[in-house]
Amino acid sequence: MENERHHKAIAIYPGSFDPLTNGHIDLVERAARLFDNLILAVVHNPSKNPLFSVEERMEMLREAASPFPNVEVDSFEGLLVNYASMKRAGVLIRGIRAISDYEYELQMALMNRRLRPEIETVFLMAGEAYSFVSSRMVKEACRLGGDVSGLVPASTELRLREKFKSLQRT
Ligand code: PNS
Repeated sequence: MENERHHKAIAIYPGSFDPLTNGHIDLVERAARLFDNLILAVVHNPSKNPLFSVEERMEMLREAASPFPNVEVDSFEGLLVNYASMKRAGVLIRGIRAISDYEYELQMALMNRRLRPEIETVFLMAGEAYSFVSSRMVKEACRLGGDVSGLVPASTELRLREKFKSLQRT
């Protein structure tokens, strides 16, 4: 038992999740099957001017994570690898959709490896149905009145509509 506890594989899936998309959920399902514990970690990134607050993004993730008993939601500030090591996680999960993601992801993985070589980045491919879905495009389409159903959970779609409505009023 004691051994089992020490050998638990903990992975962190970090991101902006601004907002959560069905592509992210696809990755959560895949990673939850591979690791004993999965932590979805929302980055505090005020400089990126996120549409949703960290708390709102965490709520969306909590809803999506509720079917998975081994998935929890958290947030972090500062260096991701320091947060991972504080959580005793040995793996960082990142999703790759297309070749265009590769360069940025490679740079980040190599920097993280340099900072903490004991933490490994594992890349997962989202299902092909999600290969063009990004939070940025979803936000833009929804802001301009496009239909994003099927690309994000229904509750996220509602939140997006409400957010853009309230921004229009201000
Ligand atoms: O969903 P995103 O915006 O592509 O996620 C990017 C994220 C949060 C993984 C990345 O920006 C990050 O790790 N930020 C924390 C600071 C850090 O550790 N950067 C990487 C090494 S310089």
